[in-house]
Amino acid sequence: MHKQNIDWGNLGFSYIRTDKSYVSDYRNGSWDEGRLTPEHTITMSECACVLHYSQSVFEGLKAYTTEDGRIVTFRPDLNASRMAESAAWLEMPPFPEDRFVDAVTRVVRANESWVPPYGSGATLYIRPFMFGFNSVIGVKPADDYQFRILTTPVGPYFKGGAKPLTIKIADFDRAAPRGTGHIKAGLNYAMSLHAIVQAHNEGYNENLYPDSATRTKVEETGGANIIFIKGNKFITVGSPSILPSITRRSLEYVAEHYLGMEVEEREVLLEELPEFEEAGLCGTAAVISPVGKIVDHGREICFPSGMEQMGPKIQKLYDTLTGIQMGRIEAPEGWIHEI
Ligand code: PLP
Ligand code: COI
Repeated sequence: MHKQNIDWGNLGFSYIRTDKSYVSDYRNGSWDEGRLTPEHTITMSECACVLHYSQSVFEGLKAYTTEDGRIVTFRPDLNASRMAESAAWLEMPPFPEDRFVDAVTRVVRANESWVPPYGSGATLYIRPFMFGFNSVIGVKPADDYQFRILTTPVGPYFKGGAKPLTIKIADFDRAAPRGTGHIKAGLNYAMSLHAIVQAHNEGYNENLYPDSATRTKVEETGGANIIFIKGNKFITVGSPSILPSITRRSLEYVAEHYLGMEVEEREVLLEELPEFEEAGLCGTAAVISPVGKIVDHGREICFPSGMEQMGPKIQKLYDTLTGIQMGRIEAPEGWIHEI
């Protein structure tokens, strides 16, 4: 297969236009049959619902080239169901879940030359998204929608690759207790833009949001869930106001069934942070990015085995997860979807 002439090893996490996107329109109460398009711009009314009332949801997954040269995606059925849930929450018609997986397959095939080679450190990021399309001036859901999938080759989400991150406890709230923190909607990211610019200006890589109600519990960062290691325990946050990360749910399984760790998904208090030995951010974009230090308004919490490089337990989790994704380690039934 011909590949694009790209310096795959030096890609960052930014948009590069590929050959085709997938598009399907929802009109008069149903989705059309969908198509691949070479068109990467969208023309819509200046009064489109998405532009004023942010009626948009999205997903993120990746296509990987395996050691033996196949192209695969990781648990796309879970992205399909999460997107349907996100859509329902914003009064949007869910895109059918079986068609979602089929559309991912078609768009990756159409962009095969953009799927980074095995061992390059890069992957093809797949971004399904949908939005309220027609004009709406009073606050109400749109009647017409567009579902699209764009693809773009990416390298590491955080600059510096595997170098441990320094993150701060955010000064702002991400998600209200009965709000939209658990869905993947653009609105959750719009609110994080001021906070992330401020964090970057102060020299931090990311914000770690505490729960909005009490600000005593750890929730998640702007774009990833957080995981902790204590002895043989793999500890993750259980909260109704965080995004149910597919990577985190997969790591819980990997920790228990591949690495024999004890898994706890529960409330994590800010007070407990100094008791943990290792920490990391996990997500499709973040994969597992080690955290070396969390700064809580002047108080520094340093993780003893993970300041200079990824700690040993997080390294094992990383190696096992990426081994499964790249076909070096046998995957649990149904996790790998061959393109
Ligand atoms: N949390 C947030 C806020 C995210 O944006 C993401 C990215 O998708 C995640 C967690 C990780 O989720 P996943 O592992 O499904 O990519
Ligand atoms: C992903 O990991 O796929 C996301 O959508 C996170 C985003 C911050 C890039």
